[in-house]
Amino acid sequence: MALFIAAALLPGCTARPATPPAPPGDTFRAQLVEQVTADGAWVHIEALQSIADATGGNRASPGPGYDASVDHVAGVLREAGFDTTTPVFTLRSDDRRPITLRNVVAQTRTGDPERVVVAGAHLDSVPDGPGINDNASGVAALLEVATRMGGSPPTTNAVRFAFWAAEERNLDGSAAYVESLSRSERRAIILYLNADMAASPNAGYFVQGGFGDEADETGPEGSEVVGRTLVEELAATGATAETAAFDDESDHDAFIEAGIPTGGVFSGADNAKTDAQAARWGGRAGVDFDPCYHSACDRAEGIDRRVLDDFTDALAGTVARFATATDPLAH
Ligand code: TRP
Ligand code: ZN
Repeated sequence: MALFIAAALLPGCTARPATPPAPPGDTFRAQLVEQVTADGAWVHIEALQSIADATGGNRASPGPGYDASVDHVAGVLREAGFDTTTPVFTLRSDDRRPITLRNVVAQTRTGDPERVVVAGAHLDSVPDGPGINDNASGVAALLEVATRMGGSPPTTNAVRFAFWAAEERNLDGSAAYVESLSRSERRAIILYLNADMAASPNAGYFVQGGFGDEADETGPEGSEVVGRTLVEELAATGATAETAAFDDESDHDAFIEAGIPTGGVFSGADNAKTDAQAARWGGRAGVDFDPCYHSACDRAEGIDRRVLDDFTDALAGTVARFATATDPLAH
């Protein structure tokens, strides 16, 4: 305080230093969680719904709705100051011409590039619908975190946001990306955070990372720190998470296979909510978490904004904590 007053009184001196000192980690976290909103995330939900409406009702990859989704997301991240690329990979099959597809990868210009926090969400939909809960919701939550954080945050570690192609085919985009990395590029990734479905209409709050008995359920060592942090950050929003074992059904899989500590959030798909879950979270027991899963009705109107808000806050808090940590995966 005294320093600021003195600076303000000096003639020709502005009160604000050109480069503010990095705030301590917990301040950075608190600020980011405070800044992100469901309204901010909603803007991206609407953009992706409009894209699907204009491209035959879906954003499937490959396809025009997917291409437009890539252009939208890459544009938002460039505008926010990230070092943004759309690395390509090729889908090959025996009976068709090879197809080239783009992921979107955006990294902060600050933070140690040898210590990278990667957060990702699949950007494609199934061919049968616009893919708004699955997975414009995860995309929108991460875009909100990215744009509020900006491309040059005062973090110890670099942060990389990734948006995957062709998850709905065979997890192709994330698999090709991890495959494309050199050994040292893989080693530089401290952890991977996956957001696949974050606003289910009859939502659950599931967290993966370190839970289960087998190694393929818990993920690599360090995953328990990611999972535990997600549980804590959901608790901070008032949501009690249920922990779940990893399966091989989303983009976390390639990172787990590469030995990278991994965590993920998931609001539930085509399973019915139990009585106990309805008691814990509200909503309707005996009804699927997302009755429109992989259907034409997976539209913006159907998603739960409060759930989206909770997951956006939890992802913001988790990204911020790992981005500012000097020993991110210490127990
Ligand atoms: N990835 C699936 C999809 O996009 C949904 C899904 C099934 C999922 N199991 C999961 C997502 C576990 C996250 C975690 O259709
Ligand atoms: Zn899906």
